[in-house]
Amino acid sequence: MPATLRELHNEITEKLSDVVELPRREAELLLIAYLEADQLYFITHQETLIDDNEPRLLEWIERRTRNEPLEYLTNRVSFYSREFYIDEGALIPRPETELLIDEVLKCVNPDESLTVVEVGAGSGIISILLALHLPNARFVAVDISPRALSVARRNIEAFGLSDRIELREGDLLGCVNEKIDLLVSNPPYIAQDASLESNLSYEPQNALFGGTIGDEIIRRLLDEVYVRKIPIFVCEMGYDQRASVQEYLKPFAVQSLEFYKDLASFDRGFCLKANHE
Ligand SMILES: C[S@@+](CC[C@H](N)C(=O)[O-])C[C@H]1O[C@@H](n2cnc3c(N)ncnc32)[C@H](O)[C@@H]1O
Repeated sequence: MPATLRELHNEITEKLSDVVELPRREAELLLIAYLEADQLYFITHQETLIDDNEPRLLEWIERRTRNEPLEYLTNRVSFYSREFYIDEGALIPRPETELLIDEVLKCVNPDESLTVVEVGAGSGIISILLALHLPNARFVAVDISPRALSVARRNIEAFGLSDRIELREGDLLGCVNEKIDLLVSNPPYIAQDASLESNLSYEPQNALFGGTIGDEIIRRLLDEVYVRKIPIFVCEMGYDQRASVQEYLKPFAVQSLEFYKDLASFDRGFCLKANHE
């Protein structure tokens, strides 16, 4: 039997009440996504009748009650005010990664013909956003996961950037031989034994865990910066990894090392300008 939007909202809120922190808001977001509507529609159509037996809706409710992220149900995610395709093959882009884009844009000349390499492309959001802002740059986006690369490929094609962003499957920079002007990465940086919220179990584990301590991949990338004489490296990191990055860089010649914070004022990443003289 059809139910009004208001009734359905209450019903889904009830089902989500033991699962998520803000069940009413989550139920609203689920219904808005399901109806392909916006908040205004949701508020002004509370008495509209909806078929509450529609299999896709029932499936979404069921999956959401298991705390599966909404983005994986809708296959849509918003990042830096743009919409991207997403599925379980790639990490759901996080808002704090928008700051990584801003940091890169601060330290390059937008007109320069740069070769930019991204390690850990995931859904491709970083290379895509940078390609949109740096019209003369060419990108190589590497990921170890073929499933992530297929999500990235889909997004890169949707933005018409296949001629400027080349995807490669590989371990860090193993598949990159060209001279790199800028290295950018949001690598996995969580420690292997960290206890995580249950919804993170739906995301690719090799996108989250960076090793026993957590910063192992960041250290390997720092080594690459000096072996390959890469001038600039911009990297996201865990809130507690600033000291270990500083310590690791002690033996290396640094022109500048600047850390940036996220909106909650936690350390979230750094921009390293290396001194290769
Ligand atoms: C934290 S996710 C970042 C995804 C995306 N760039 C973003 O910011 O949303 C890290 C990505 O690194 C990839 N990855 C993990 N280990 C890797 C390695 N050794 N070499 C290349 N990519 C790796 C994972 O598959 C995952 O897609």
